[in-house]
Amino acid sequence: MTVPSDALEAIAGEVKACTQCPLHRGRKNAVPGEGSGVSGIYFIGEGPGYHENEQGRPFVGSAGQLLTELLESIGLERRVVWITNVVRCRPPENRDPLPAEIEACDVYTKRQLTALAPKVIVTLGRHAMSRFLPGEAISRAHGQPRRSGGYVVFPMYHPAAALHQPSLRQQLFDDFRKLSDFLERTPATVAPPPKKEEPRPVTQPTLF
Ligand code: URA
Repeated sequence: MTVPSDALEAIAGEVKACTQCPLHRGRKNAVPGEGSGVSGIYFIGEGPGYHENEQGRPFVGSAGQLLTELLESIGLERRVVWITNVVRCRPPENRDPLPAEIEACDVYTKRQLTALAPKVIVTLGRHAMSRFLPGEAISRAHGQPRRSGGYVVFPMYHPAAALHQPSLRQQLFDDFRKLSDFLERTPATVAPPPKKEEPRPVTQPTLF
């Protein structure tokens, strides 16, 4: 697959200059996202924390270390997946991102999705899941692929949750194994690349 790095770099430049929501006021570095589209996997988490704000890179703190371990457990390196967040500037005191902030940043989510045309979107935590599967409960939906708009969405618990609740750690490793099995048995044509930017997706309850 061709990796559209020019488009991704252009989006990153706009994210770094973005003033569309109040989160830009407190940022040291915006965190547009990083990686590549070669694996067809698009990870999306909640928002930058302290370390991500310092470095301008997603998932570089302790939750990021666990994400790297989870990827390695299914034979993937970070550089072959795309990693981003529903908000790209750090919320103060690491509070939850507000719906208006997620909405303001959604233009970049959509544009990155259009550029990468991923085979699967892996949502990390409930904020990212709600963006694609509104009304779903993560305790019910995790580890199962769903369709949302033109995409296949694979919800997972957030790695930070497993740092606080050790029982979720094994669940995350199990769900990554399910992701790996799903990718192996799913032809690349399951999620055809959208022709143009998708409208806000409407959830369809179709299960695989
Ligand atoms: N948590 C997130 O949701 N995103 C990051 O980038 C880091 C921690």
